[in-house]
Amino acid sequence: MEDILNKVNEAVNYIQAIDNSTPEVGIILGTGLGGLVNHIDIEHSIDYANIPHFPTSTVETHSGKLILGTLSGKKVIVMQGRFHYYEGYSMKEVTFPVRVMKFLGIQNLFISNAAGGMNKSFQKSDLMVIEDHINLCYENPLTGRNINEFGDRFPDMFEPYSKSFIELAHKVAKDNEIDLKEGVYVSVPGPNLETRAEYRFLSMIGADAVGMSTVPEVIVAVQMGLPVLAVSVITDLCYEGALHKVNIQDIIQAAAKAEPNLIQLFREILSQI
Ligand code: HPA
Repeated sequence: MEDILNKVNEAVNYIQAIDNSTPEVGIILGTGLGGLVNHIDIEHSIDYANIPHFPTSTVETHSGKLILGTLSGKKVIVMQGRFHYYEGYSMKEVTFPVRVMKFLGIQNLFISNAAGGMNKSFQKSDLMVIEDHINLCYENPLTGRNINEFGDRFPDMFEPYSKSFIELAHKVAKDNEIDLKEGVYVSVPGPNLETRAEYRFLSMIGADAVGMSTVPEVIVAVQMGLPVLAVSVITDLCYEGALHKVNIQDIIQAAAKAEPNLIQLFREILSQI
């Protein structure tokens, strides 16, 4: 990936040849949360498979399209389906689309994901705005020779999630009677869910929710100076008393139940920035 900058530029050129407008906000949609797309005034929808150097989504629950259009009056570029480390991609591949969206001109990045809830005040299908994270993935997207065009060698992580977005999210949630929790997200490589002992450990080290995405994307976004808003949908409860065997269908069902609130939250926030 030494020539990653060339690859990003080739992907950008391909997309700009199809749609030369400048998107303002990039949005990454998590598992079971693709419905936001139904509210977009779509200009172009591009299969990942057609974009130079884009990894191709392999997980059935992710449809794998880049959507350009207008949502709540803002030009958006939306990833319907993201790339996960557990699919076998390197962290540089996982985060490649974030680089591309930044080079297309986005000024903000919105992220959603499905996560397990370890905080005892959480209920299934709650929304949690991410306030901070803990990275437990063993591969980092920034390793290797630094590309100065992307940003610093040693990016600061004091405040990876925009404070003003978090405040706005709470205000919008209150105005729309959405119960919005706040907390720390810990990223694990997956693909297996955690053991009971692992959930206890993750809770002890200060995490409120656990998932298999988002953190690599946020690290890359922060390196490039992109303000981030990230919201987890709590799809399964992972604390003693509530923890039980789950399967992926339960997780998708819990995400679907929360989806209308997430859509409303993102649409309202977009209209207010
Ligand atoms: N663990 C890790 N990732 C997840 C979980 C979980 O419990 N739920 C949804 N994504």
